[in-house]
Amino acid sequence: MAVLVTGGAGFIGSNFVLDWLAGGGEPIVTLDKLTYAGNLQNIASLDGSNRHHFVRGGIEDGALVADLLASRDIRAVVNFAAESHVDRSILGPAAFIETNVVGTFRLLETVRAYWQALPPAERGAFRFLHVSTDEVYGSLGPDAAPFTETHPYRPNSPYAASKAASDHLVRSYGETYGLPVLITNCSNNYGPYHFPEKLIPLVIHNALSGKPLPLYGDGRQVRDWLYVGDHCSALRAVLAQGRPGETYNVGGNSERANIDVVETICGLLDRLHPRADGRRYAEQIRFVKDRPGHDRRYAIDAGKLSRELGWKPTESFATGLEKTVRWNLDNAAWVESVTSGAYRDWVAKQYA
Ligand code: NAD
Ligand code: TYD
Repeated sequence: MAVLVTGGAGFIGSNFVLDWLAGGGEPIVTLDKLTYAGNLQNIASLDGSNRHHFVRGGIEDGALVADLLASRDIRAVVNFAAESHVDRSILGPAAFIETNVVGTFRLLETVRAYWQALPPAERGAFRFLHVSTDEVYGSLGPDAAPFTETHPYRPNSPYAASKAASDHLVRSYGETYGLPVLITNCSNNYGPYHFPEKLIPLVIHNALSGKPLPLYGDGRQVRDWLYVGDHCSALRAVLAQGRPGETYNVGGNSERANIDVVETICGLLDRLHPRADGRRYAEQIRFVKDRPGHDRRYAIDAGKLSRELGWKPTESFATGLEKTVRWNLDNAAWVESVTSGAYRDWVAKQYA
């Protein structure tokens, strides 16, 4: 038996696949369309492994997914595949509807047909874990309590709306067909293999390249940061022990304003990789035009996950961020390769 991981060549998916196999988990089949965000280098260390099988393809390809499910004896699906960047969803929402909404729907249909034909014991043990985001809940006021699983959905970007739609579809397949679904809504991740279009890797990369460090608006928006390895451990816990039909919020209890995040990265770089001219990286910070519909604050209450499944993060923001900065310094070749081609075109458009 094996686990099917969709989107496993992306940032979080690749961390999940690597951690899972390093921990001795059962074989994984990775299905990834390899969009601009999918990068086979992330999982290159698995080349030649007989416990990992990579297939290039989309979650919307019913024939391909049906073949993989049956031929590889899949007992669980972990769905990371998505378009994931808010700014891209503002410039071009269509791909988000195609993959996050229609793609998830087609995946659910294919999985339902496979699952319904399984012998009863295997049907009961089967799991469909859908990896989602806290952005479905919308924005919080400065003093509001963090999001719990019962917080109303109020997505504000096309990305968040497309993820919200996918969550509703997944939930409905649990309620209507009895498919054993699980949903996780996680806060902002950071760590190795993070594509440098998102705040933390973008700032590290720009700082080292001598470029401006762009902060949208007043830079006081708040995100709740979680080290990617801790997200992966939460997903393993939910897959193993989560109750089908339930949603679990995942977060690191690490709320930070963007300006503080960027200044902390600058301080780490000043220490670990000082500028050649002896000046501070923070001098590169620039305030730029705000993102339309920019959510002011996200914060996650992960109490249900810790009470029911005993999960807690192992990294603090300080330790996780230092690891991440060091990883970027030690993996300059990876950063160089992903900052060529399509990524450059995107950056030119976004920061023109
Ligand atoms: P990512 O953009 O780095 O990776 C997405 C992966 O999905 C890429 O490898 C891409 O090639 C693949 N993909 C895209 N369309 C596909 C399709 N139609 N079929 C198959 N593969 C396809 O994203 P990420 O940051 O790793 O996020 C993974 C998941 O976690 C997403 O669903 C995202 O909504 C969710 N999430 C992300 C964060 C975060 O902070 N990054 C936080 C919470 C939840
Ligand atoms: P991002 O990493 O895109 O994640 P999300 O929008 O999903 O939370 O952005 C994190 C925060 O950083 C968000 O408030 C937008 C802000 N931001 C900037 O200020 N400058 C940037 O160049 C980017 C990419 C993001």
